[in-house]
Amino acid sequence: MNTPAPAVEARQLIKTYPGDVTALSGMDVTVEPGTVFGLLGPNGAGKSTTVKILTTLARPDSGTATVAGHDVLRHPDRVRRAIGVVAQKSGADPVATGRENLQLQGRLYGLRGAALRRRVDELLARFHLADAAGRQVKGYSGGMQRRLDVALGLVHRPEVLFLDEPTTGLDPEARTAMWDEITRLAGDEGLTILLTTHYLEEADRLAERIAIVDRGRVVVEGTPDALKGELRGDAVHMELREAVGDSGRTSLKDSLSALPGVHEVLFDGRRISVRAEDGAAAVPALLGALERVGVGVAAATVARPSLDDVYLRYAGRRYADAEAAADSAESTESTENLALAGGA
Ligand SMILES: Nc1ncnc2c1ncn2[C@@H]1O[C@H](COP(=O)(O)OP(=O)(O)O)[C@@H](O)[C@H]1O
Ligand SMILES: [Mg+2]
Repeated sequence: MNTPAPAVEARQLIKTYPGDVTALSGMDVTVEPGTVFGLLGPNGAGKSTTVKILTTLARPDSGTATVAGHDVLRHPDRVRRAIGVVAQKSGADPVATGRENLQLQGRLYGLRGAALRRRVDELLARFHLADAAGRQVKGYSGGMQRRLDVALGLVHRPEVLFLDEPTTGLDPEARTAMWDEITRLAGDEGLTILLTTHYLEEADRLAERIAIVDRGRVVVEGTPDALKGELRGDAVHMELREAVGDSGRTSLKDSLSALPGVHEVLFDGRRISVRAEDGAAAVPALLGALERVGVGVAAATVARPSLDDVYLRYAGRRYADAEAAADSAESTESTENLALAGGA
């Protein structure tokens, strides 16, 4: 039997920006047709840059990519006809109505007359925007705007839909509604979805396969369950009263690893995280071992494995810390508009 060609295939993408910023350092992505694939990573990991290259809005310094079977560098026009893009920042015209936005997008893709009207009505109904169709988009709620963005990306019935952070900035209720929309889209025949997110929970819930991205490359890839399943036992996180020096770490690591049922001791600033067959049972022994060498523990928590733990294991730092580091480094980020105007 033939295996179908991947809907998206990127190999060793490298992209640097002026000022020596390495956005991608060898990004590999393969997405099978008809599946939902999640690129999960903190701010600054390179998710949007990957999407921009795959949607022909940016060129890599090196590396190759095909989307829907077309080479993004050699046949960008073919790629654009095959894809829908929902950029991280909305491309809708705020002073036009929802219906006008959809009509314009449809015309850009060659739809006219009754076919255009039908498609616009269909999308307005599908995304619960029919009642708001005649209102200016600037008066829409965040969730309504985002639903319109997705509708705009679907006007020309693309084979591959790119959703760059579809729920960032939405309140919890609108986020849940968007998850339902994406889940329904995923059921559409043949549609392939590549979404990016910095929410672990979102990737876990929506994507059949996840690639965890850190510093411009994929650090691990698999199904959410397989990724979580790799982490045997519980995670025990201990918050230390003070940081331990490099030499102290080595000997601490040895003595903690030697405790029964304990494996994988990871240091991260003032935290120690270990894997234990039975987390609750291991806590007294861990605290005792730390106390014997004079290391004070402020707090200890036991948790079932989560994607957060997978991230810590493969990226070597905690997800929240990676986010915080990126946020402080990114205060100067530009407000470029990434709307893909037409392309037919
Ligand atoms: N137009 C740009 N000019 C300079 N640096 C950029 C530009 N776009 C992105 N970067 C930098 O490239 C890195 C990756 O950014 P991006 O792909 O937007 O990450 P993500 O979408 O995962 O948050 C970051 O360090 C970011 O600051
Ligand atoms: Mg981004």
